[in-house]
Amino acid sequence: MKATKLVQILVLLPYVFILSNVNAQQQTFEPAAIWKDNNGIHINAHGGGVLYQKGTYYWFGEHKVEGSKGNTAQVGVHCYTSKDLYHWKDAGIALSVSDDPESDIVRGCIIERPKVIYNKRTRKYVMWFHLELKDKGYWAARAGLATADRPTGPYTFIKSLRPNAGKMPFYPSGIPVAEHINVEKPANNTDSIFCRDWKGGQMCRDMTLYVDDDGKAYHIFSSEENMTLHIAELDKSYTSHTGKFSRVYPGFQTEAPAIFKRNGKYYMIGSACTGWAPNAARLFVASSIYGPWKYEGNPCQGEGAGLTYGGQSTFILPVAGKKNAFIFMADKWQPKNAIDGRYIWLPITFKAEKPELSWADSWTLNSFGS
Ligand code: GLA
Repeated sequence: MKATKLVQILVLLPYVFILSNVNAQQQTFEPAAIWKDNNGIHINAHGGGVLYQKGTYYWFGEHKVEGSKGNTAQVGVHCYTSKDLYHWKDAGIALSVSDDPESDIVRGCIIERPKVIYNKRTRKYVMWFHLELKDKGYWAARAGLATADRPTGPYTFIKSLRPNAGKMPFYPSGIPVAEHINVEKPANNTDSIFCRDWKGGQMCRDMTLYVDDDGKAYHIFSSEENMTLHIAELDKSYTSHTGKFSRVYPGFQTEAPAIFKRNGKYYMIGSACTGWAPNAARLFVASSIYGPWKYEGNPCQGEGAGLTYGGQSTFILPVAGKKNAFIFMADKWQPKNAIDGRYIWLPITFKAEKPELSWADSWTLNSFGS
């Protein structure tokens, strides 16, 4: 080899090393750091959830703008796609807010925690979200529905509603009859809220969707002034509630539900109810989706555990192709500059069948094993 060639190689070598290292750095999850999309822009999909289909992950979330105005819906629901969970491509706005002042989703309303599931029967992509009507604070507490023919949309807004009007809860065995609600004579404050909303439909705020192995889908949401969670069955098209629902720990005030199933058991991680400020996560376990759910304490371990490392749960993502590999997805909210909200994704580990979370500055899918 000529001396000049050797010099050229030696000069280029550090660059080759730097480039390969840059690439390596992108193959990690760095909770709460800025996470850029394919255009180099911080991913804008807060309170999100992920749909997996045919080798592609679709991440849907609230598109936030700058400042506190970003706590209202100025744009809509943003979608990103990925093949490997590390690299995300901007797929645009899946559901746009409306400019029609008569629309429930007029710009300036609040659209939170959108989740999308696919209905094999109708071949529709079904999005449910928490909707608050414009200039009405958080009092409307409605469920919004939009559907699309393609995963990335565009989604068409169909309706908003208060679920399960006129319906009574389903009580899984294990809930004593004495605790069943009597509409004529509510036993406590929580039951009174349920009864207040019985005719018009139950409140729906923080929410998620879950499709079980048998194809049945459930809408899980904070209800009754956030006093409890409802686990509500959706119909075969996933676009209506069937009227069958149970309540989880009435009076315990759980928000931000995220759910997964492992070895036939259902696990739910949620938060307490302190607005945008973080609090301790809550773990619940059940052998039936309707419960009874058993509260199992805070799944977070180590430093920062008492405040869920600054985050609040939004979704639990099963990793495709890996058995029992689940990613806990949380939001680190920045209500003063909403667009700067960060994502905390952490691997769920299991100790004696109990899910646990620990902080990691950086981690990879290899932590799940093969
Ligand atoms: C909680 C909820 C969020 C949002 C804020 C508003 O953090 O989980 O989705 O509704 O309260 O304060």
